Amino acid sequence: MRKWIVAGNWKMHNTIAESVALARTVKEGTAGLKSGEVVVAPPFTALTSVGEALKGSSVALAAQNMYCEDKGAYTGEVSPLMLKDVGCTYVIIGHSERRKYFIESDETVNLKAKKALATGLKPIVCVGETDGERNKGVTEAVVGRQVRGALADIDKLDNVVIAYEPVWAIGTGMVATPAQAEDVHDFIRRLLVEIYGCMAADVRILYGGSVTKDNIAELIAMEDIDGALVGGASLKADGFLGIISKMP
Ligand code: PGA
Repeated sequence: MRKWIVAGNWKMHNTIAESVALARTVKEGTAGLKSGEVVVAPPFTALTSVGEALKGSSVALAAQNMYCEDKGAYTGEVSPLMLKDVGCTYVIIGHSERRKYFIESDETVNLKAKKALATGLKPIVCVGETDGERNKGVTEAVVGRQVRGALADIDKLDNVVIAYEPVWAIGTGMVATPAQAEDVHDFIRRLLVEIYGCMAADVRILYGGSVTKDNIAELIAMEDIDGALVGGASLKADGFLGIISKMP
């Protein structure tokens, strides 16, 4: 049985005070949670304070990005050791916004994923096609290349989480239909089985892209959808807790 994950990606939003207030409400709202895992990914500046605010709860802390070296002359970057130091257990890797605006390639994503695992952080590796790619009928080719690229030379999937986020669904309100999402999740699962054999059955594959409390129930009902990576709807406690309340 795969344990579901609902992860909130706060992106470049929230001051420290706003982040702590949101984290406290999420902590209170998830206090009685019996199943699944809740994760929040505040901006770097708020990680320490949010980590403090979440103490005593089961809500896990994630970073939105990291660099692929422990330390050194890499002005502006944040190391996985620093993320461990502030209490992160997860790190989002290869989000489509990083691929688009910061030109992250499959190779970069792979270096980061390997480094995260070596440091004891669990990477949430993001993959997904653009609308142009979907219209051309190359969704599986693109997602397949991204998954293979991200996981090259990684031999164990224990701590790996995949997030399928069609780029056209992110921040647009155009959520994938449950069938569209399940098709790609099933494709990813089959690809992982092809590469890794039966251990692929335990890998959590999250859906992301305009998830709200109103559409999560039908998405999570799909066989290979194991949770959600949530952007916009994670910025308000009632939206985020509303999603969590729909989880099985
Ligand atoms: P969204 O973002 O929920 O606002 O569409 C999802 C994401 O980018 O992870």
